[in-house]
Order: sequence, then C-alpha cells, then structure tokens
Amino acid sequence: MRQSPLILMLNSYLINIIFAKKKLDMSNNLLKGKRGIIFGALDSNSIAWITAERVFEEGGTFVLTNAPVAMRMGQINELAKKTNATVIPADATSIEDLENLISKSMEILGGKLDFVLHSIGMSINVRKGKSYTDQNYDWTHKGLDVSAMSFHRVMQTLYKNDAMNEWGSIVALSYMAAQRVFPDYNDMADNKAFLESVARSFGYFFGKDKNVRVNTISQSPTPTTAGKGVKGFDGFIKYADKMSPLGNATAMDCANYTITLFSDLTKRVTLQNLYNDGGFSNMGVSDSIMDMIENS
Ligand code: NAI
Repeated sequence: MRQSPLILMLNSYLINIIFAKKKLDMSNNLLKGKRGIIFGALDSNSIAWITAERVFEEGGTFVLTNAPVAMRMGQINELAKKTNATVIPADATSIEDLENLISKSMEILGGKLDFVLHSIGMSINVRKGKSYTDQNYDWTHKGLDVSAMSFHRVMQTLYKNDAMNEWGSIVALSYMAAQRVFPDYNDMADNKAFLESVARSFGYFFGKDKNVRVNTISQSPTPTTAGKGVKGFDGFIKYADKMSPLGNATAMDCANYTITLFSDLTKRVTLQNLYNDGGFSNMGVSDSIMDMIENS
C-alpha cells in the first residue's frame, strides 16, 4: 500500500524523536552547564572529534578549534553543526591566535571555561621519514613547538586571562613513548615527555592559584591521521593489542575517560599522567606474544 507524503513525513519525524531520545538516554548529563574549548578535531577518526561528540551528549557546550591550514583539509564544520559548536581557527603556536580564541570563546559561551582538551601532535621528522639519529633540527623545533610547547602556551593564555572557572579541568593527550623506547615514534617521544612535564609544572600553579586540575591521558595507539603517520603503525597497534590484557583503548574509550576528567567526579585528580591503554604500560610479556614467538 502506498503511503501519503504526509504520513511518510510524520513517520520520519517520529523515528528522529525516538533516536534523539535514545541518544539522550545514553547520556548521564555529566557535563551539563559546562563550557570549554576542544583543540584538534581534524576528521571523524580524530580523538578530539569523538570526544566532542561525547561532550555534546553529556550536555557540555564548546568552541572547536584547529590550525587554519587543517580546517581547509578537515571537516570540522560538519562536526560543529552536529554539536551546536562555533569554530574559531587558531594555530597553537601563535599567542595572538590563542588570545583571540580564548576571549572570543568566553564571549560566545557566556562566561569562563570549565574544560579544555589539547589534542594536538605533529612531527615533521616522522612525516618525512627522518630517523631519530638523523634529525632535521628545524623540524624537531617545529614539532616540539606544535606538540608540546603549545600546551604551555594554551595554559599560560588561559591563566593570564583568568579564563578558567574554579574546579575546571585541562587535559592533553600523550603516549607511553614518553617513558619507554619506541624507536619509530622518533622525536614525538621527547615531545610527549615535555608535554607531560608541562602538565605537572603548570598544574601546580593552576591548582594552587585557581583550583583547576591539569592531567595528561596516555592513550593506546589509535588509527587516526597522526597515529597512522608513525612508521610501522599497523604492526605497532597489533602488538600493543596483543600485549594488553584488555586490548587497546579506542578513541571512544579515550573520549569517555576524558569526560570523567572534565566532570565533577574527579575534582582532586591533578598533575597525573593517566594510562588509558588496556594495561599495556604494566606488562612485560603476554601469552599471545609468547605464542607468536614460540611458533615463529
Ligand atoms: P589527529 O591527526 O586527528 O589530530 C592531531 C591534530 O593536531 C589535528 O587536528 C591537527 O590539525 C592538529 N594540529 C597540528 N598542528 C597544529 C597547530 N599548529 N595548531 C593547532 N592544531 C594543530 O590525530 P589524533 O591521534 O587524534 O591526535 C590527537 C592527540 O592524541 C595528539 O596529541 C596525539 O599525539 C595523541 N595520541 C595519539 C595516539 C594515536 O595513536 N593516534 C596515541 C597517543 C596519543
């Protein structure tokens, strides 16, 4: 039987309402009334992208930002539409851009910020296949500036502008190569060690002066543009998965962990580097890796 266009329209309207309600039911409103800035959503694989979707589901409002050049390549406007967010371009190596981003964000969101996600990483040495023993130091400098010093710059701009609300939360994403050797992770290992140190050092001042917490999440290898840029990534991600009793943490796992750190449930967790890696960081060897070696 043919249905009239009006009935078809009503059906699709009802289906949309049911889906929207289902989505809301998944939310615990952990970030209701909270405002923030999310750096680093390039495409739908980006950890920042998935985090933005989860923050939205949990009731948070935010400004999305990325480097102007990444905006031309990425699909950030699509994400902004889905999450009712405004997009403000900012190169995380430019104080001027960050000043503009932070003041405009407070204007748009209607007050100080409760959360900030730094999800930025880039190494030209990695991208161009230069090994750790043959660095182009201009590139090393640039990578450090973008991936690590930018975190200091973001926090210093927030701090000087008194842009964070009390009990706010700042999170950056790191990787275990800050503690252990992963040869192909190259100069990014040093960048992550710097990043984690900045989290502790600035976290002290942010805690003492403004009651704001600062942490890094050390995430499993994740198939994103930045992740897949590392030489041998496919082997690397499989190895980590086989080593970890709970398997690799996905981008969604990372987003969910970040939600807890932005929420009021973790108010006194600060100066920490928190492993979201299925247990990898405490493993020596696993049965499945032993089986592979014995059978090879
Ligand atoms: P991604 O490539 O989707 O995100 C990296 C982001 O950094 C991009 O959006 C890029 O535009 C942005 N960016 C680069 N230069 C910038 C600049 N000058 N100013 C502002 N933004 C800039 O990759 P992914 O994996 O989502 O990366 C997010 C964070 O997670 C990075 O810090 C990365 O090191 C970290 N991480 C990633 C892992 C992985 O295996 N993918 C594992 C552990 C940590």
